[in-house]
Amino acid sequence: MSGRPIIIDTDPGQDDAVALLLALASPELEVRGITTVAGNVPLPLTSRNARVVCELAGRADVAVCAGAERPLVRPLVTAEYVHGRTGLDGADLPEPQMPLQAEHAADFLVRALREEAPGTITLCPLGPLTNIALALQRAPEIVPRIREIVLMGGGFFEGGNATPAAEFNIYVDPQAADIVFTSGVPLTMLPLDVTHQALIKPRHLERLRALGTRVGDAVAGWLEFFERYDVEKYGLEGGPLHDPCVIAYLFHPEIFSGRRCNVRIEASSELTMGMTVVDWWGVTGLQPNCTVIRRLDSEAFFDLLIERIARL
Ligand code: RIB
Ligand code: CA
Repeated sequence: MSGRPIIIDTDPGQDDAVALLLALASPELEVRGITTVAGNVPLPLTSRNARVVCELAGRADVAVCAGAERPLVRPLVTAEYVHGRTGLDGADLPEPQMPLQAEHAADFLVRALREEAPGTITLCPLGPLTNIALALQRAPEIVPRIREIVLMGGGFFEGGNATPAAEFNIYVDPQAADIVFTSGVPLTMLPLDVTHQALIKPRHLERLRALGTRVGDAVAGWLEFFERYDVEKYGLEGGPLHDPCVIAYLFHPEIFSGRRCNVRIEASSELTMGMTVVDWWGVTGLQPNCTVIRRLDSEAFFDLLIERIARL
């Protein structure tokens, strides 16, 4: 029985890389393609990094398509301060041999959705939403063909990480996020409120290293590099593993919880630019447009993650 068809849109980034590995290691999912976007690091690097991860997983067969090199309107903001110059600092892996597809990410998304029966493909954005917005602009008729968009982005009770009000993925391209959140596509959002519960602990790193595999060592190296910024910034007892939460949610939703809410995107005020305004208490009376995930069983999440990484 083949898995749930998904396309992952990503800006690797160490946490994106772990999310890609989790998806590729899980038979419950069928990765139909990977599209890359500028975000954590510029597009040439996110497009390189996605292929590095595919080859690390032994999956040079996966189609990787490069997309937007900058947001729809705003200048690009990157996060080398978190992810390092390459975006995959922490592990020394060979340059990829597999090619990038010639097709633009937005065209790949539109074509895949047109070719598949309506309601088949789930889109999993893990970075700024520029490619998704471009696809929706180029072919509005794909809206009813998308089964669901399950994304990492936003924050509400937890505030922001790019500004006091905004989480990085949304902050980088608020106009794209507004297009996605007003599109009518079934949406599930995993914001900082839940990903800040997925804190990397020393015991998790020890278990990854104890696997004695090239993948386990690479993941441990990435996470040791990646977490230092959040630990210094938030004083957390470990870095939050944001993007893999999206993948785990797809096939183990029972370890998460949340509720249907109306979510709007601030795309005008500089003070709150990129804020996800989550009507958690239903005070606006506006129709819910998104399932907002707020809770996670962290140990179940890491058990699942490590068990799957061990398979690669
Ligand atoms: O704010 C965290 C998000 O921004 C994650 O997806 C991380 O990879 C960066 O893209
Ligand atoms: Ca990301």
